[in-house]
Amino acid sequence: MSDKKKILIQLDTDNQASVFDRVVAVDAGTEFLFTHAGVTPVQVQALVHGAIFTRGPKDLMSTAVFVGGSDVSAGEAILAEVRKSLIPQYGLSVSVMLDSNGSNTTAAAAVRAAAKHMDLSKSKALVLGGTGPVGQRVARLLARQGAHVRIGSRGLDRAQAVCATIKARHANAQVEAIATGSSTDGPKALEGRDLVIAAGAAGAVLLPAKLRAQAKALRVAIDLNAVPPVGIEGVELGDKGVTKDGVICYGALGVGGTKMRIHKAAIAKLFQRNDLVLDAEEIYDLGEGL
Ligand SMILES: NC(=O)c1ccc[n+]([C@@H]2O[C@H](COP(=O)([O-])OP(=O)(O)OC[C@H]3O[C@@H](n4cnc5c(N)ncnc54)[C@H](OP(=O)(O)O)[C@@H]3O)[C@@H](O)[C@H]2O)c1
Repeated sequence: MSDKKKILIQLDTDNQASVFDRVVAVDAGTEFLFTHAGVTPVQVQALVHGAIFTRGPKDLMSTAVFVGGSDVSAGEAILAEVRKSLIPQYGLSVSVMLDSNGSNTTAAAAVRAAAKHMDLSKSKALVLGGTGPVGQRVARLLARQGAHVRIGSRGLDRAQAVCATIKARHANAQVEAIATGSSTDGPKALEGRDLVIAAGAAGAVLLPAKLRAQAKALRVAIDLNAVPPVGIEGVELGDKGVTKDGVICYGALGVGGTKMRIHKAAIAKLFQRNDLVLDAEEIYDLGEGL
């Protein structure tokens, strides 16, 4: 245990750091929040050295790093630099979490919601908007749980690229790219799918009601778009495990409560040790039982 104050160092890749992430940090028990905005990879080493060379190894569990901002690729580059700048062989390490654009906590909450109602290892899932930061992580987490995952995109090549990225991380992943760009693509994409998670851009309808009615195998529908019109027609923003026409539905706000609990639990976890790296999988795992 360390009796030092809990310091969270927020490395945000946007020019204006996320207020959302700052509020959650405080609510999760952070005592001092050091916010750095517009962070680029070249700046990271000095920032991390400031963190690890001040307190002794036994107190470094009271210092942690949070990587955020709207650009997930930029956040991933910052996370990689943070990891390179730590010196764990001498105990000079701090725990770090990546949640750019809320992607990891949102994806974890969505997959947790689905897992309440079905055995994911037997599920046949379709992730609409599967090329975005949230959709990619949803697909990755579902595949890791053993689901067969169809990744939908208006551009088949983009979905194929996501499949390759997931397979590089989880060799046994059962992933398949599917085009969803034209009105005739829908039935093929939905065929045999018992789970649909829509992670499309805000305000984009990805699954119209007419098409949804043809999805005979569908048991669980989760829509993460919080900006009307919703991504799955018929699913309301506040739906949380509501059954409609035999399908269990979640809307963005219905998933949002779990997302917030997972986000806060992840921040709190950072202060329990000094060697954690919380990315999609680790964040999903700590959502167990929340
Ligand atoms: N509930 C929460 O707590 C929470 C938190 C964070 C985010 N979100 C929501 O989660 C969703 C996904 O976030 P994100 O940042 O990953 O989204 P994003 O990057 O803006 O979009 C995701 C994908 O949607 C597809 N898309 C874009 N415009 C489209 C259109 N007009 N019609 C059909 N498809 C379109 C694109 O895929 P292709 O071009 O490959 O088709 C894109 O890669 C958003 O709706 C966001 O608001 C919710």
